[in-house]
Amino acid sequence: MKYYLFLISIFLFLTSCKDSPKTAIQTVDKTSGIELLADQSHPGKGLLEKECYTCHNPKTAQSEMIAPPMIAVKKHYLKKTNTRDQFVKDIMHWVKDPSEKNSRMPGALRKFGIMPYQSFPEKTVSQIAEYLYDNDIDKPDWFQSNMGKGQRKGKGMGKRKGIGECSGNCMGKGKGQCKHMGKVSIDTLEKYKILGKKYASRTKAALGKKLMQAITEKGPDGAVKFCDINALPLTDSLSLAQGAKIRRVSDKPRNPLNKANEKELTFIADFKKTLTSGYPAEPILDTTDGQIDFYYPITTNAMCLQCHGVPEEQIATSTLSLLDKLYPNDRARNYHENEIRGIWAIRFNQE
Ligand code: HEC
Ligand code: HEC
Repeated sequence: MKYYLFLISIFLFLTSCKDSPKTAIQTVDKTSGIELLADQSHPGKGLLEKECYTCHNPKTAQSEMIAPPMIAVKKHYLKKTNTRDQFVKDIMHWVKDPSEKNSRMPGALRKFGIMPYQSFPEKTVSQIAEYLYDNDIDKPDWFQSNMGKGQRKGKGMGKRKGIGECSGNCMGKGKGQCKHMGKVSIDTLEKYKILGKKYASRTKAALGKKLMQAITEKGPDGAVKFCDINALPLTDSLSLAQGAKIRRVSDKPRNPLNKANEKELTFIADFKKTLTSGYPAEPILDTTDGQIDFYYPITTNAMCLQCHGVPEEQIATSTLSLLDKLYPNDRARNYHENEIRGIWAIRFNQE
């Protein structure tokens, strides 16, 4: 019970930031019947977003999904069980052994190909599964029409925040993040932030899809060349219309062409500080000659470490020798999970 009081007090603290969008989700504790707030501080939330949303992200456009959104997975897994224990076991079982025989979503398997095996600590997956079971999670806007009847339209399942609202940081770990700027500038800034994030997430999805396919088919060695965004066909209509130029740069580049410049290095340092502080990152915007420069951090997850982790431990010997050959000045090693690997540096035209 104390736990819940704790959550409620966190909520009260957070809502003291007036402009915050009300993204808190209400659920009902079945044992006490008391209305509770979705557990924003649950470790499973961050883990879900970090480890699973690379592929299961509800914010990815339908045409760019590389895996079913997590809400669809949850729905399927709830069909077979209504106990929390069993749900958690089932999810853990899958993550440990994603195989055709274990699949409950044969349609998704056919459409996307099988989920690649990734090694996660058991506790990570159990916390994710518990969080999934206990909370309403975000669903994509397009998901509504695909949902069967009886689906809840609860708070937190619906619309995302609109332009001009305080950008959601107020719901993070607290104070100091809610920027009270003039209405006009918020509108414009938010618009560019959203646009920038859209470019970044599209590119990430396209890249993730290639990487995932390649790792599944050929293993990390065969996939090595697929982590190059320049190899992607990024000239879609949106990018063309806005004249977007998308780069990924790093303070420890693998490819020397991806080396961050002075200015970008200071942004990387800023994002590193933000990450350690625990606050969610806000994109950085900069304007030059009618163009917008958008910067946003790229963080590592478990999947990245097979090519960016500790040599011999996480990077296999064979992958290593390939990397040595292709990138003699490779500095992009010895990363751990949840570190800043680099940033998106995206330039597009001001409207
Ligand atoms: C690299 C991309 C990727 C990541 C990361 C990923 N998944 Fe998946 N996942 C997929 C794909 C693709 C499918 C759909 C095909 C399938 O069912 O295998 C899937 C399907 C699933 C399913 C349904 C499986 C079935 O067929 O019954 C579950 C459960 C699941 N994922 C859980 C997770 C969890 C939990 C995480 C985070 C710990 C995670 N996934 C991370 C790609 C990914
Ligand atoms: C299969 C191997 C592999 C995996 C897995 C992988 N990368 Fe890479 N990564 C590379 C290679 C190779 C390059 C160099 C690409 C180039 O030549 O532009 C690279 C380059 C990058 C760059 C550009 C900066 C630089 O160092 O040149 C970033 C940023 C990056 N990777 C982030 C990630 C993240 C984040 C993940 C996990 C989500 C990841 N990578 C997973 C192999 C991989």
